[in-house]
Amino acid sequence: MRAVTIEEVGQHIGQEVTLRGWVYNKRSSGKIRFILLRDGTGIIQCVLATGEVDDETFEKYGPLTQETSVIVTGIVNEDRRAPSGCELLVKQVEICQIAADYPITPKEHSTGYLLDRRHLWIRSARQSAILRIRAEVIKAMRDFLDDDGFVLADTPIFTPTSCEGTSTLFEAKYFDRTAYLSQSGQLYNEATAMALGKVYCFGPAFRAEKSKTRRHLTEFWQVEPEAAYYGLDDMADVVERMIVYLLRSVLRKKARELEALERDTKSLQEIEAPFPKITYDEAVEILKKKGMKVQYGSDFGAPAETSLSNEFARPVFVMNYPLSAKEFYMKEHPENPELVLCFDVLAPEGFGEIVGGSQRVDDVKTLEQRLKDFNLPREPFEWYLDLRRFGSVPHSGFGMGVERTVAWICGIKHIRETIPFPRTLYRITP
Ligand code: 4AD
Ligand code: MG
Repeated sequence: MRAVTIEEVGQHIGQEVTLRGWVYNKRSSGKIRFILLRDGTGIIQCVLATGEVDDETFEKYGPLTQETSVIVTGIVNEDRRAPSGCELLVKQVEICQIAADYPITPKEHSTGYLLDRRHLWIRSARQSAILRIRAEVIKAMRDFLDDDGFVLADTPIFTPTSCEGTSTLFEAKYFDRTAYLSQSGQLYNEATAMALGKVYCFGPAFRAEKSKTRRHLTEFWQVEPEAAYYGLDDMADVVERMIVYLLRSVLRKKARELEALERDTKSLQEIEAPFPKITYDEAVEILKKKGMKVQYGSDFGAPAETSLSNEFARPVFVMNYPLSAKEFYMKEHPENPELVLCFDVLAPEGFGEIVGGSQRVDDVKTLEQRLKDFNLPREPFEWYLDLRRFGSVPHSGFGMGVERTVAWICGIKHIRETIPFPRTLYRITP
């Protein structure tokens, strides 16, 4: 018998198929027994009716506990009310292993309890829907960049320097030296962009974030494009097209998962380019008018970002922050040397920053001065300075965080549910 997935049963109406999965729930009513079966692609109701199956098969219902692994064969019936559009009229049940006392029951559990059992929690309908959407988001990010002429160029995880400030570095013992886990592949992207033109890296980033916000992980995934001869506006255009592409892909291919999450997709469907662009100065004005305390010259905190992004129905670009709020590598604004050519993109509905990008300093003297001003050691950055010595060109790039993007698309408040095994200040298990 050909095994199919629950996602595929709709193509086999009236046929006999075999499904391989786990018991999600069960109930009985008179002479009929129902098994809710999940297989990772969906959930289907399997019906055991006396008279339709032999007694031996009917009796197998008894020992089925939640998460018992089973192989079920039966006839696919169309059932428009069911989420999968079908139900299975069972003929045969084969039990693989009986799960005794599965610790996550349909009743409410605390998030701490669930996170301690994350290796099991990911089996729940909601969590698996989020992870399937995450996979689609990553695929769409890569498809978009591949089709747009960006070349994947991987960047190292062990690095000798910081990229995004020295306060969030994770040290690693590297034989008899100290290495740091990469905070961002950007500096290496700048080198590969000079070799290949348009590049991106996709990988994990590590930051020793002491903050306990719902937006910070210590290990997260980032996609980072970088392109030679691209100014800031050229890169903003890539961001805009990429976000619209992501949304369209997920809305089209993961409609069932979004529905399982009860995500209101109208707000996502309506998003189109162009996105509004405001300057840092304008953002400060908006926040002040809303009665928020802002210190001119610093980066916005999470509450300020939430407040700003609530003002717009589309993602909004906040452009040209003061250098004091940003990083050493950002190019100065031609009209105001206090400001840099950069943008953050804040997702709507209060989700806040999902993208950070900038044009990079391309002049060797300026960069040498920046290293001094930011108290960064010169020697480990010599290779980076070389990029400004040998055929330097204007270039720009950005980083988009996978987890924050998934949180926004799924409409979930805390990013710890957007990655299979979240790493935070207090958690490195399971
Ligand atoms: O704004 P960030 O720090 O920018 C950079 O790392 C640049 N070097 C990127 C570049 O230009 N190539 O980080 C980029 C994005 C953020 O907008 C956010 O989505 C995500 O990475 N991010 C985090 N996500 C989860 N937890 C954290 N601690 C994050 N820090 C950044
Ligand atoms: Mg940022």
